[in-house]
Amino acid sequence: MQIIKAKDYDHMSRMAANVIAAQVILKPDCVLGLATGSTPIGTYEELVRRYNNGDLDFSAVTSVNLDEYKGLSPENDQSYRYFMNDHLFKHVNIRQDSTYVPNGLEPDSAAACAAYDEIIRQAGGIDLQLLGLGHNGHIGFNEPSDVFETDTHCVDLTQSTIDANARFFASMDEVPRQAYTMGIGTIMRAKKILLVVSGKAKAQIVRDAFFGPCTPQVPASVLQLHKDVILVGDEEALSLIP
Ligand code: GLP
Repeated sequence: MQIIKAKDYDHMSRMAANVIAAQVILKPDCVLGLATGSTPIGTYEELVRRYNNGDLDFSAVTSVNLDEYKGLSPENDQSYRYFMNDHLFKHVNIRQDSTYVPNGLEPDSAAACAAYDEIIRQAGGIDLQLLGLGHNGHIGFNEPSDVFETDTHCVDLTQSTIDANARFFASMDEVPRQAYTMGIGTIMRAKKILLVVSGKAKAQIVRDAFFGPCTPQVPASVLQLHKDVILVGDEEALSLIP
């Protein structure tokens, strides 16, 4: 694993954007695995800035997002489809029909998940997967568990994740309890993985995930077994690593 220590959030965002930009420049028809959450927002802003400067072309890129809340429509401003449109897709020249997010409106979980795995398979797998890190070590919405789930699946979100997400919703009742997420197997098959972390609140879980035992109780710890992981973090998030 390569660790890039950034000064602060903005620096982290620029460093992460460097990795994604390099991927798009070197393989214009690449498959980008994308992530939501507050951490990558600055990275997306930086990519949009570079696109506006004429330094990046997304016209041949395919994107597959990690996850989506079950039950939320693309028009719901808390859905991950809405987030991606808002922070990246509508600002660059990626073809809308080459951007994929699990279908939160498909009530049949097995059908939604199988369809998503087929999309990723047809795209030829993921060249570069961007990840954030949940406070409990989740990646995508792969929550702590007794096993690593391999394929796209429907998860019951843990109380800590529901609590962490509550800040984005008008009331606790509106916070989704389930989500569709890419599995650990699909994430691990990505050729390259870029994980972004920021802030003191992530320092302990960064240490547990990358310097503790590899266990499904800390889903991100599986990344220790991947051969090409870049961890970009700011000083606070990396403050507890040995
Ligand atoms: C959500 C997303 C994850 C993300 C996590 C952390 O749970 N499903 O993909 O990594 O939030 O979010 P943040 O970056 O806001 O801490």
